[in-house]
Amino acid sequence: MISKIQELLREVEAFEPQTPADLESFRVEMLSKKGRIPSLFQEFKNVDPSQRKEMGARLNQLKEAAARKINEWKEAFESRETESRPEQPDFSMPAGLSPLGSRHPLSVVRNRINSIFEKIGFVVSEGPEIEDDWHNFSALNFPEEHPARDMQDTFFIEKNPDIALRTHTSSVQVRVMENQKPPIRTISPGRVFRNEAISARAHCIFHQVEGLYIDEQVSFADMKQTLLYFAREMFGEETQIRLRPSFFPFTEPSAEMDVSCNICGGPGCPICKYSGWIEVMGCGMVDPNVLDNCGIDSSKYSGFAFGMGIERIAMNIFQIKDLRMFFENDIRFLRQFSSAI
Ligand code: PHE
Repeated sequence: MISKIQELLREVEAFEPQTPADLESFRVEMLSKKGRIPSLFQEFKNVDPSQRKEMGARLNQLKEAAARKINEWKEAFESRETESRPEQPDFSMPAGLSPLGSRHPLSVVRNRINSIFEKIGFVVSEGPEIEDDWHNFSALNFPEEHPARDMQDTFFIEKNPDIALRTHTSSVQVRVMENQKPPIRTISPGRVFRNEAISARAHCIFHQVEGLYIDEQVSFADMKQTLLYFAREMFGEETQIRLRPSFFPFTEPSAEMDVSCNICGGPGCPICKYSGWIEVMGCGMVDPNVLDNCGIDSSKYSGFAFGMGIERIAMNIFQIKDLRMFFENDIRFLRQFSSAI
């Protein structure tokens, strides 16, 4: 009996399981009801009473050694498992809210302008920011020597004077006219570039929405009514408009449209520089030359066009005094528009 105990003790000491399954089968082999250690306890009955005390003590030591060994390995396997398995997320936790950003004020105003015109059937069209001379100037009836082509206003590509950054989104409308048949009702929002000194009222990059309407028998009265509708939707029901004669190479006649000051309503304030009026856009009847340049029969069709700067309108609506703020991306400025949609 003593030799059996010693042998088992050696086995227990030498035991090194590779896997938890090894450990479990070792436990069953050694300690389960019919395992090798309990069967030694069975044999204990036959031990000579004079040796019982010593045998009993040794048997108990063996049993404890086996139990200790199994426990140690069990703990070792458990801690290995938690180390190798990254902590599992708790899917029952309430979700954390990710902070919401806000729309840029220029996007807010652009979207408003778009939706006002979309309501009366205008479709948004877009085009490239890098344009050729034809789409930005020639098709729009700019004479060769027109000062707007001058290096002061336009960013040309140095190696190719035919290529420039578009100075207005009228270029998009040339593309629409070339590719579609009247009736055409389109608005072109987009970024434009002019070589201007940056100040509180001007920037070399700014944004426009330009509009174009071409069909049979479109008249100046149609333009006036469309723009009045726009002004009232944009600046409020009471808004008045005023058209002043102006000049653009691509429209004839041309006008500047002012709206009655939405801040003071007429009598004059610092925003409208005490005139009661705020200049909002250029407009006019599309010059027949432009229609012909773009493959539209000017003896059959006529149309009107208009163009406005988004920055200027946004400055007015949100009472922003310095246009540069739109481009600085100062989070304290941008956050103020989180309720604007
Ligand atoms: N393209 C003009 C500009 O950029 C605006 C405009 C558009 C004027 C259409 C008249 C008609 O200033």
